[in-house]
Amino acid sequence: MTDRPDSNDAANSMWGGRFAAGPDAIMEAINASIGFDRRLYAQDIRGSRAHAAMLAAQGIISDTDAEAIREGLLTVLSEIEAGNFPFRTALEDIHMNVEARLKEIIGEPAGRLHTGRSRNDQVATDFRLWVRDQCDAAIEGLQALIRACLGQAEAGADWVMPGFTHLQTAQPVTWGHHMMAYVEMFGRDLSRFRDARARMNESPLGAAALAGTGYPIDRQATARDLGFDRPMANSLDAVSDRDFALEFLSCASICAVHLSRLSEELVIWSSAQFRFVSMSDKWSTGSSIMPQKRNPDAAELIRAKIGRILGGTVALFTVMKGLPLAYSKDMQEDKEQVFDAADNLLLSLAAMSGMITDLTANRDRLEGAASAGFSTATDLADWLVRELGLPFRDAHHVTGSLVAMAETRGIDLPDLTLEDMRSVHDGITQDVFGVLGVHNSVASRQSYGGTAPDQVRAQIARWKETLA
Ligand code: ARG
Repeated sequence: MTDRPDSNDAANSMWGGRFAAGPDAIMEAINASIGFDRRLYAQDIRGSRAHAAMLAAQGIISDTDAEAIREGLLTVLSEIEAGNFPFRTALEDIHMNVEARLKEIIGEPAGRLHTGRSRNDQVATDFRLWVRDQCDAAIEGLQALIRACLGQAEAGADWVMPGFTHLQTAQPVTWGHHMMAYVEMFGRDLSRFRDARARMNESPLGAAALAGTGYPIDRQATARDLGFDRPMANSLDAVSDRDFALEFLSCASICAVHLSRLSEELVIWSSAQFRFVSMSDKWSTGSSIMPQKRNPDAAELIRAKIGRILGGTVALFTVMKGLPLAYSKDMQEDKEQVFDAADNLLLSLAAMSGMITDLTANRDRLEGAASAGFSTATDLADWLVRELGLPFRDAHHVTGSLVAMAETRGIDLPDLTLEDMRSVHDGITQDVFGVLGVHNSVASRQSYGGTAPDQVRAQIARWKETLA
């Protein structure tokens, strides 16, 4: 059983003019959003201050009233920040809680604040401001993470390691190249948040309930005051779309997928079987029963966060589909998903930055693993094409026979003798051994975007310039 709030016989003072009695206690419970939308208090007060200043500048309310409202809102803000604001469920949401408290503090002028606006444009404005701040925080978090990955890439630009496909050794790559792959992913995440921010940066304030207002308001002025680029051009759209929140969640979901994949690699790499990396004590936990354990809990938790972030994304898409214009109360269900996704994304970005910064890559283990598993078989095939003029398919076949020979004997490709090689193809010369080493292999991959240390260093330099 949930707690039933005390039933409220008094009609709501904000909209109860035509109501004889208050709502049923359960109605109040399902209707209220103050339990979560109190997180919008700073944006709500900022929006109200901008609105009141504009109303006075336009001669819609007096300067004296505007000044009283301004002072009163600052008092409300400090009460909330000091933790002694009397939040009331009967007042539904943050907008009515703030306004009712303003009335208790300044009296009659408080009633003039809501001239020429509605909770519909008010909530759309507050929420846009909040999500805009989260985009800024995500951008900052991603920049820090990219810097951490660049630090790793720079230290190990020429450290060889196995590159995988199907998690089977494929071709040698460098540690720097692998780290830079994540820099590219997080870089696209960064630009997605920037794009989303730019698109959402228009003001709904002044759209009023849905149709605009007859008061001579100045929407350009409030938009400017709130740091928006311009007012939204259609009042119905302004109060009723939440695509900015969907876009934020979509960006967050894609970023969380990238974080999850990197987490998975950290989990695999830090295992006793791989030992490619060791995680710092700061980012590991022990086991209460197995003293040898160092568990990568933070990586595992970040790996899991995509579940709730994508869950919230699907939830809001589902809430919004099929809603007729303009506002419907369904849209009150937009906030918790976004709050939760933003909190968990920012926490994950911060934790991943810390883990990557403090991570020690084990160069010897990486290099040892790089040469195992016939990782230079492709280099051998390429050599046969280049030096002996074989068609690639034939070269593939010759190399396959040599791999099989080495595998049967339990040795690596460079351990075969020239006679072994020539028994499969008599054109092979001593020169072939030059391409069988993993360092030669990575150094030869000079194509743009390839794993050669020179290429990797060029990409690191480009990114450092981009971030500066
Ligand atoms: N608490 C509401 C929300 O979050 C505010 C807007 C209410 N508007 C209304 N017409 N009932 O969506």
